[in-house]
Amino acid sequence: MRTHDRLRIAIQKSGRLSDPARDLLARAGLSFRESRDRLFCYGESLPIDLLLVRDDDIPGLIAEGVCDLGVVGQNVLAEQAAEREAAGQDEAYQIVRSLGFGRCRLSVAVPNEWEWSGNARLDGTRIATSYPNLLTRWLREQGIAAEAVVLSGSVEIAPRLGKAESICDLVSSGATLQANQLKEVAVILESEAVLAGPAKPFADVRADLASMLLRRLDGVLSVKA
Ligand code: PRP
Ligand code: ZN
Ligand code: MG
Repeated sequence: MRTHDRLRIAIQKSGRLSDPARDLLARAGLSFRESRDRLFCYGESLPIDLLLVRDDDIPGLIAEGVCDLGVVGQNVLAEQAAEREAAGQDEAYQIVRSLGFGRCRLSVAVPNEWEWSGNARLDGTRIATSYPNLLTRWLREQGIAAEAVVLSGSVEIAPRLGKAESICDLVSSGATLQANQLKEVAVILESEAVLAGPAKPFADVRADLASMLLRRLDGVLSVKA
């Protein structure tokens, strides 16, 4: 069991959010000594350490208390919150700050050749996605009877493989959709990188460390805005 006299922040090890997340923390005055495996970085300027992980693991690490805070896409956080809700579990996280980078949207996209008359076109079809909980909730709200087919990656090729008729995935520049002859027809969620923390406040020295970190982050974010 770790002691709670240091704060531990999880960030994406490699991917779209890694560099901006590290840059933001550096600008807030945090510096780190990297370990050999480059999975754990010891905080040198402050008692705040970094854990480098897969983005999808970050909400779970916060829920389990393995990490105190995490920089993660709202899309990942919302999907896992929806999963907990569907399973009847308590809310485990909260968004502490929106960070203004990593903007994207979770959208439904269909083959270019489809004539789009509206959401009813999806009735009776299969939609490939890595976000089954957010998609299922949206389908229910829209009154669409479609099936979510879960794939952990390369969702965009599912229609060509015959695994689904359409997809629901993240769109940033739109290049991936275009390369796969798909067009965006509905936005399910607008997303950006957020600092996420546990639903319950810290009850030890981590509360002071977190509020100091937030003051510094707010300083950096106000300059950027
Ligand atoms: C997202 C998404 C698409 C791509 C879209 O992946 O899954 O593949 O980006 O971007 P574009 O519109 O600019 O082409 P991401 O990089 O978030 O990685 P992950 O899905 O593996 O977490
Ligand atoms: Zn991911
Ligand atoms: Mg992807």
